[in-house]
Amino acid sequence: MYIHVPLLLFLLANVAPSDAALFSRDSESSLSRAARHVRRHVIKRSTGLLDDLRLAYTGIRLQQQAQQQQQQVLFQSSKMYCVNNGNTGLGIANNGTSGSSAPSSSDPGISLSASSAATSSMVSSSPTPTTSPTNAATTTTKKATTQATSPASASPTATGSSSSSSSSPWKVAQSYEGDTFFDGWDFQNSPDTTTHGVAQYVDKDTANSSNLIEINAAGNAIMRAETTGTVSTYRKSIRITTEYSYTGGLIVLDAVHMPTGCGTWPAFWSNGPGWPVGGEIDMVEGVNDYTNNQVTLHTAPGCSMPSSDPSTLGISGSLIGGTDCAAADTANAGCGVRASETNSYGAPFNAMGGGVYATLWDDDGIKTWFFPRNSIPSDLSSSAPQPTTWGTPMAAFASSSCDPFKYFYQHTAIFDTTFCGDWGGGVWDASGVPGQEQSCAARTGAASCSDFVLNNGASFTEAYWEVKSVKIYQKSS
Ligand SMILES: *[C@@H]1O[C@H](CO)[C@@H](O)[C@H](O)[C@H]1NC(C)=O
Ligand SMILES: *[C@@H]1O[C@H](CO)[C@@H](O)[C@H](O)[C@H]1NC(C)=O
Repeated sequence: MYIHVPLLLFLLANVAPSDAALFSRDSESSLSRAARHVRRHVIKRSTGLLDDLRLAYTGIRLQQQAQQQQQQVLFQSSKMYCVNNGNTGLGIANNGTSGSSAPSSSDPGISLSASSAATSSMVSSSPTPTTSPTNAATTTTKKATTQATSPASASPTATGSSSSSSSSPWKVAQSYEGDTFFDGWDFQNSPDTTTHGVAQYVDKDTANSSNLIEINAAGNAIMRAETTGTVSTYRKSIRITTEYSYTGGLIVLDAVHMPTGCGTWPAFWSNGPGWPVGGEIDMVEGVNDYTNNQVTLHTAPGCSMPSSDPSTLGISGSLIGGTDCAAADTANAGCGVRASETNSYGAPFNAMGGGVYATLWDDDGIKTWFFPRNSIPSDLSSSAPQPTTWGTPMAAFASSSCDPFKYFYQHTAIFDTTFCGDWGGGVWDASGVPGQEQSCAARTGAASCSDFVLNNGASFTEAYWEVKSVKIYQKSS
């Protein structure tokens, strides 16, 4: 889908020292990367870009100025040069960026208040006592029957022993797991035209016959990338979209492994019709060797975050750029939050067997939680989620400044793994992001991301998703 959005670039970067590399995955024009050292508001501007001219701003050096609230116009100071992204169009990459100190991740992480109740919750969710006096048998049976036929009314005996047991308002509306995982997804069959990577997405039959998808012995869905040593213009990969669409809900991804490594740009995300009008929610996303997840919204004008202060927002992550989520106002950058957890993405995520990402989209707004494998709340494990018990989310976008049903609707969920592209290629030379303390250019010795990706298939054995399940819940009425 080709959508032209205004190319006035407003990149707001005012919180964390970061690369502010927020990229819409569904936009035609693109900002690519920016503003590592930026600690105050920035405005960048560009006009007159051609449809297939990808503009990448890099190496922005902000003159440090006295505290001021107003935004200032920023001019890029680094050299830029053109890169042929495997015939997908022109990319412009930078040279001359300097490293920066990595953001510290001092936040101890998410609260897992529910996890300690795991065992008791699982047990007490059964309405039938394991031992009961004979003379109470009839009553017990009656209660159990009543509860079974009317799940909304919780029985006191069932709820008494554990506050976190029983009634989840959420019921699985759609789930993808096991042998039938790949049923109900559309496979994109074209190159990556939206984020300009050197990935060739293939249809389901080709994916299967090329060994790019399978259900493994553990019953998990695998989505790989091609590992052929050298390919000419694209590396084969997977992009799948749910046939099921939803407005609001609780989207839960349980993944064992995600693609990682220089050149990779995977995501689990969703979007609506008429981008950016129906909104885009990037739930799991990053590039290269990043270790901290990034959650980003891209919307029509009018949606923002109410504050840039994580504690005011009640989140464990921190803002990468500004608070405006509108694609048109931010050169598609949207509003993004980077997780503080250094195992929330990439190799460290994989090393611990992954975990669960849960994104709640309801009247209060949009929130994402991350639970490492060893601390998944029991209510999630038992498919009876109770988000109110999960503690501080990684990211939250409150309804007070962004109506979650005006700016977001009719979403479909998407997995993809592209290579290079606007973001992955744009930060090839960059360093100073958690997990990418040294640039991929330095680490691989390859001058450009696409050079590396097209010629080093053996480097992409870790560029795969292993997914236990995707469950999309809706509120039971
Ligand atoms: C990048 O800049 C460095 C130092 O100025 C230079 O040595 C190098 O050749 C440049 N690389 C490219 C690809 O222009
Ligand atoms: C791949 O093809 C084989 C043979 O037709 C089939 O048994 C298997 O279920 C397919 N796998 C997927 C994931 O579609």
